[in-house]
Amino acid sequence: MGDIDLVTGAFGYTGRYLSRRLADSGRRIRTLTAHPRPILPGDPQVDVHPYSWDDPDALTASLRGIDTLYNTYWVRYAPGGTTHAQGVRNSRMLIAAATAAGVRRFVHVSITKPDRTSFYEYYRGKAEIEDALRASGISHAIVRPTVLFGGDDILINNIGWLVRHFPVFAIPGDGRYRLRPVATTDLADLCIRVAGEPDDVTVDAVGPESFAFEDLVAAVAEAVGARCRLVHAPPGLVALMLPVLGLLTGDVVLTRDELRGLMAEYVHVDGAATCPTRLTDHLAEHATEVGARYQSELARR
Ligand SMILES: NC(=O)c1ccc[n+]([C@@H]2O[C@H](COP(=O)([O-])OP(=O)(O)OC[C@H]3O[C@@H](n4cnc5c(N)ncnc54)[C@H](OP(=O)(O)O)[C@@H]3O)[C@@H](O)[C@H]2O)c1
Repeated sequence: MGDIDLVTGAFGYTGRYLSRRLADSGRRIRTLTAHPRPILPGDPQVDVHPYSWDDPDALTASLRGIDTLYNTYWVRYAPGGTTHAQGVRNSRMLIAAATAAGVRRFVHVSITKPDRTSFYEYYRGKAEIEDALRASGISHAIVRPTVLFGGDDILINNIGWLVRHFPVFAIPGDGRYRLRPVATTDLADLCIRVAGEPDDVTVDAVGPESFAFEDLVAAVAEAVGARCRLVHAPPGLVALMLPVLGLLTGDVVLTRDELRGLMAEYVHVDGAATCPTRLTDHLAEHATEVGARYQSELARR
């Protein structure tokens, strides 16, 4: 086992947690990214390489000497940027380059319930990449997180921000569709654990608590001390309001597909928890920070 691991997007959201955890255990870190960023306090030194999507040989060269590749690369939504089809093509190229470079283990961060027949291109693409990884022959682990929380997470922080700033929060539909949030630190630990297993595995990364969406919003509002009224609204009306919120925040707050996926319980799975941290504990410990700032996906891009 070599001592260098590669984390794609080491300055990104999950990538940062992963690289910190790995560095704490003595690993050296290389990354692929299109956005090298300043090192923050607590960040390890990272050997930065570009995503060479137009040069497979350069991509392979960037992966030589890597023991484990932790792949966080994916595209949340397409408009104005990389499309999901490009994301799939690039991910296939990354798998091929890792195989050619002799990477020992490929740990792939996917998502719960990837599905080639989904209405949602994000989930279809995720399923396609998982299949490509299984067919590649490289030793691999596929980790499928639900919605992530902790630090600069987008969903929990932005629910917090909305309930802090608006007197009313519109719950789409009956609000009884469920989520099973998972801490990003736990996801990082799980990825590192399965990196050391000998067999190919696929595992959900799910926390111990399950929430109906309206209960989740209520829990966030209570934790941050917001006196925001939750009202039910038809999903179609909420979808019409989202672009208005987008104008206010300068971001794509939630896409129509994300709303539909949320209501179809794409971020909920049954079964035993694979990660220990409770969202309610996180909210209690970080009540002053949750939602204090809006977390903009577009600004990050
Ligand atoms: N965040 C969640 O709640 C959540 C929940 C379930 C699953 N996941 C999965 O976890 C993985 C990591 O998510 P994350 O939120 O940590 O992602 P992220 O930090 O925003 O990005 C991860 C990597 O993907 C690249 N990337 C992201 N969006 C891109 C775009 N539009 N065009 C080109 N490159 C893009 C980033 O490039 P740069 O390095 O150049 O910035 C980075 O290398 C993804 O596979 C995601 O599907 C996330």
